[in-house]
Amino acid sequence: MKSTIGVGLIGTGYMGKCHALAWTGVRAVFGDGRTPKLIHLAEVTGDIARRKADEFGFARSTGDWREVIADPEVDVVSVTTPNAFHPEMAIAALEAGKHVWCEKPMAVALADAERMAAAARASGRVAVLGYNYIQNPLIRQIGTILADGTIGDVNHVRLEMDEDFMADPEALFYWKSEASSGYGALDDFGVHPLSLLQVLFGQPERVLAHLSKPYADRPTADGRRRAVETFDIASVLLDMGNGISGVMALDRSAWGRKGRIALQIFGSKGTIVYDQERMNELQLYVSSDKATEQGFRTILSAPQHAPYDRFIPAPGHGLGFNDLKIIECHELLRRIAGEPARVIDFDTGLGIERTVHAMAQSHREQRWIDLA
Ligand SMILES: NC(=O)c1ccc[n+]([C@@H]2O[C@H](COP(=O)([O-])OP(=O)(O)OC[C@H]3O[C@@H](n4cnc5c(N)ncnc54)[C@H](O)[C@@H]3O)[C@@H](O)[C@H]2O)c1
Repeated sequence: MKSTIGVGLIGTGYMGKCHALAWTGVRAVFGDGRTPKLIHLAEVTGDIARRKADEFGFARSTGDWREVIADPEVDVVSVTTPNAFHPEMAIAALEAGKHVWCEKPMAVALADAERMAAAARASGRVAVLGYNYIQNPLIRQIGTILADGTIGDVNHVRLEMDEDFMADPEALFYWKSEASSGYGALDDFGVHPLSLLQVLFGQPERVLAHLSKPYADRPTADGRRRAVETFDIASVLLDMGNGISGVMALDRSAWGRKGRIALQIFGSKGTIVYDQERMNELQLYVSSDKATEQGFRTILSAPQHAPYDRFIPAPGHGLGFNDLKIIECHELLRRIAGEPARVIDFDTGLGIERTVHAMAQSHREQRWIDLA
């Protein structure tokens, strides 16, 4: 096998930069595997692409994403464009024999996500989704605590995701309020907490959802008002089918919440609490602690929570959001090398998409929807 791997990047916005940083940093952090070579980058125009290639350190640039996929030196393609482009770009890359690292969610329509998973299966290439939050070493530690039986048998899980970028009722109408962008908080947000649920417990067997709109309309740039078509709030009941019940609450109009992805796991012997806004700490309550000293203890991320040690030798200094992407990139390289890897591939990701669409169906039909 080659000692290097050629990287293509489509899209250079928020996530495009994040992928570029990950490809740049992964070798320095982990010191193993194939060395990424930044080959070819695409944006909507040749000018933007040239500027970004210069900033990110890519050898070539183009205003036509198909040139990245056709480049024989590119082995793996990062797809970081808006959701509507994912199916066409990911499928074209797989059909050209490239591995794919595509941002979440897979697609707006379930049928497109199904086509993506089928293309990945047919290609024999690795196709992985950008579910970075599962890479937090402390989320792995939650898995270890659960497996150790420290909090006993889990009976209830609560998941929340809240941000406030749609909280202002007078903020201008934009594409995230259009039905063509999807359901709203459910697909924009819900897939992230569902990715945590996936790695810790799997997907639910039944769901019951209610979607709501905090504001009926929003102002437009020309001074009129336009009806909001998406749901910024989702409230969902989950039946995991194994004695575990769950609640998921999503809100992208929650003033004061900036990047909250909160998890509470209740068991017969204790409780685990996590919040992405404080991603370097876990709260653990264990009922067998001495009664006089019972209370939540705070566990700070530290070198014993692999792969934290690959970044920092000192405990309590803290990883950041971009570090999760570097870990995700390393796991992708491991999967490409045929090694065990912690990734959400297109098949597993399709399960998450099915869950989201079942929730939307539940809201429409006002009933529980079976997924099992
Ligand atoms: N994993 C995460 O935590 C996370 C966080 C934010 C966004 N996302 C996902 O990442 C994706 C991108 O979101 P973003 O916030 O980076 O958006 P963004 O708007 O910041 O960036 C998207 C980029 O894609 C470019 N683009 C659009 N069409 C293109 C085309 N045809 N060819 C080449 N480039 C094109 C745009 O010009 C833009 O630079 C979305 O799918 C989103 O859901 C994931």
